[in-house]
Amino acid sequence: MSATIVITGATNGIGRAAITDLAKDHAHIIFTYRNEDLKDSLCSELKAIRPEIKLEAIYCDFSVLDSIREACDIIQASTKKIDILINNAGVVNTAYFETSEGIENTFAVNHLGYFLFTNLLLDLIPEQSGKIINVASAAHAFVKDMQWEDLNYKQEFKMGFKAYGQSKLANILFTKHLSKKLLHKGISVNCVHPGGVNTALGSQNKSMLGKLLKILLKPFFRSPLKGAESILFLARTKDNAVSGEYFVDSKIKGTSKASHDASSQEKLWELSEEMVLQTFDI
Ligand SMILES: NC(=O)c1ccc[n+]([C@@H]2O[C@H](COP(=O)([O-])OP(=O)(O)OC[C@H]3O[C@@H](n4cnc5c(N)ncnc54)[C@H](OP(=O)(O)O)[C@@H]3O)[C@@H](O)[C@H]2O)c1
Repeated sequence: MSATIVITGATNGIGRAAITDLAKDHAHIIFTYRNEDLKDSLCSELKAIRPEIKLEAIYCDFSVLDSIREACDIIQASTKKIDILINNAGVVNTAYFETSEGIENTFAVNHLGYFLFTNLLLDLIPEQSGKIINVASAAHAFVKDMQWEDLNYKQEFKMGFKAYGQSKLANILFTKHLSKKLLHKGISVNCVHPGGVNTALGSQNKSMLGKLLKILLKPFFRSPLKGAESILFLARTKDNAVSGEYFVDSKIKGTSKASHDASSQEKLWELSEEMVLQTFDI
């Protein structure tokens, strides 16, 4: 079945590997981008794979809430349904900085980006068959719990590892909570850990330690296509009954104790609504 797929962060790394593989099966792809050259090269690559493909490239900066809203308005106007939504755009920052809304950039992009984008597009996802796939990370275990009193990690940002870990824990809390909210609609919501993958992640950082770590770890990292494996598995599986799970190497794996806490899942949802200044009744 050829489906309509929406994917974020498709211009690079794991997202690019996933969408170029999925283009073999699917005729309508909508992706978000920030960089014009990367957008053009991805369009050329996808058209070479499938010349008749219907492509829509939508500008979106996930660190800007209005940019997410504008992108969703365009998607809402251009398609009647989204069979598979893949939230993948993510960032690792080794220095602290805030968005114009006063939210630490990692949390804004990695969590609020998924939260707002998904909620604004939810009515396009068909009941019984629709899928939402969130790219999380084993790094969620870098933190014991959400740091509710300072979600920005302003007090102890250091190299940003905990802030990144917290944003990935938020991906899992969000996945589990949304999956419960959507159970009655038969829409599956799952998340994945791609493994350690050789991508551009963190390459914008200036810190020498970050660069050194990347060089040292590179030989142990997998290719972007291997990293995309669980996304591809979930996108292609006919079984849409599995929901609220975390996949590694296409298999369900356990996650940290904090990620299972139903009150944390609820609290994060409510705080996220406050941060994006919008409530979502499902
Ligand atoms: N690589 C790993 O080892 C690893 C491990 C576990 C989890 N992950 C997760 O995998 C996902 C993909 O990361 P990757 O490794 O493929 O990294 P990547 O090569 O850097 O790709 C990240 C993508 O996200 C986009 N993006 C970043 N910030 C954005 C923003 N503010 N607005 C819009 N788009 C933005 C990037 O767009 P630009 O090209 O415009 O920057 C790029 O297309 C992330 O969620 C990451 O947390 C990665």
